[in-house]
Amino acid sequence: MVDLSVNLSGLELDNPVIPASGCFGYGEEFSELYDINILGSFSFKGTTKEPRYGNPTPRIAETSSGMLNSVGLQNPGIEKVVSEVLPRMSGYFSKKVIANISGFSIDEYVYCTEKLNGIPKVGIIEVNISCPNIHDGGMSFGTDEKSAYEVTRAVKAVSKKPVYIKLSPNVTDITVIAKACEKAGADGLCLINTLLGMRIDVKGRKPLLANKTGGLSGPAVFPVALRMVYQVFETVDIPIIGAGGISSAEDVIEMMMAGAAAVQIGAATLKNPYICKEIIELLPAVAEKYGISSLKEIIGAAH
Ligand SMILES: Cc1cc2nc3c(=O)[nH]c(=O)nc-3n(C[C@H](O)[C@H](O)[C@H](O)COP(=O)(O)O)c2cc1C
Repeated sequence: MVDLSVNLSGLELDNPVIPASGCFGYGEEFSELYDINILGSFSFKGTTKEPRYGNPTPRIAETSSGMLNSVGLQNPGIEKVVSEVLPRMSGYFSKKVIANISGFSIDEYVYCTEKLNGIPKVGIIEVNISCPNIHDGGMSFGTDEKSAYEVTRAVKAVSKKPVYIKLSPNVTDITVIAKACEKAGADGLCLINTLLGMRIDVKGRKPLLANKTGGLSGPAVFPVALRMVYQVFETVDIPIIGAGGISSAEDVIEMMMAGAAAVQIGAATLKNPYICKEIIELLPAVAEKYGISSLKEIIGAAH
C-alpha cells in the first residue's frame, strides 16, 4: 500500500491534494458533488477585511492550455467568513482548512489573522502577497523583498497558527522573496500564484478583460511553477506547497520531486470539478508504477 500522507508544519494530511484558493470557494458547492473529506485539505477563497465585489466583467478569458482571470478577490469579508461560513463548514468538511487571506495594507493582513486565531477549524493561514500595497504606491507586496519581509513579520507576530506565504511569480528572482519570507519567520511557502497576462478582443480592438490584464493559470504555467518550486527548494528550509498547472497524478509526483511537500490544484478544478477526487484515487497506482511506496520520500527527490 502506498502511503500518501504528508505533513505541513504539524498538520497531518491524508494526501497532498489541496484545491487552490479562488477555485473552490469555501467548499460548499463542491461538497454537493462528492465527499470533500477525501481531500488533504482545501484553501478557501482569498478573504479580505472588507467584503469585495471584485472587478468588473468580463473577468475570465480562455487561453491555449490555460485561462486568465481578473476576479479581483470577490469575497464576503472576514467578519462574515468567521461568523457564518466557517461554522457552517464543519457540517460538510471535517478536516482543518487553509485560510487564504489578502490585504491592501499590513494592518489588513494583521486584522484578518487576528480574527482567525481563535478558530480551531483553521489549520494554516496562507497569506496571499500578490496584492497591491496602497500605502506604498500600489506595488504588490509579493514583488518587493522588503514588503514581503514586513508583511510576513507582522502576520507572524500575531498569528497563533502556522503561516504560509503565497508567492507571486511576477518577479525577477523568486528565491530572493522566498528567502526574505523565511527570514521573517514564515513557517512555509506556497507557490505560484498566477502570471500576469492579457488578451485582445481583435474585433473590438481592445483588451478582452475589463481590467485589461489578468492572471494566467492552468497547464500552460506548469513548467514555470515547477522551475520556481525547484529553485526555492534549494534556497529555503521550510515546507513548500507547489501550485501552478497541476492537472494529473503524474504532475503531483513531478511537483513533489521538485520540492513540494503538498500541492494545490486551481484552474483544473474549474474545468473538471471532480479532478481532485480523480487524482487522489489515481495516485496510489501511479506512485506504484514509479516504485514509490511513500509520497513523503519523494519530496525534493529530483535534487
Ligand atoms: C479564478 C481564480 C481565482 C483565484 N483566486 C485566488 C485567491 O483569491 N487567492 C490566491 O491566493 N490565489 C488565487 N488564485 C490563484 C490560484 O490559487 C493558483 O495559485 C494559481 O491559479 C495557479 O494554479 P493553477 O494553475 O492550478 O490554477 C486564483 C486563481 C484563479 C484561476
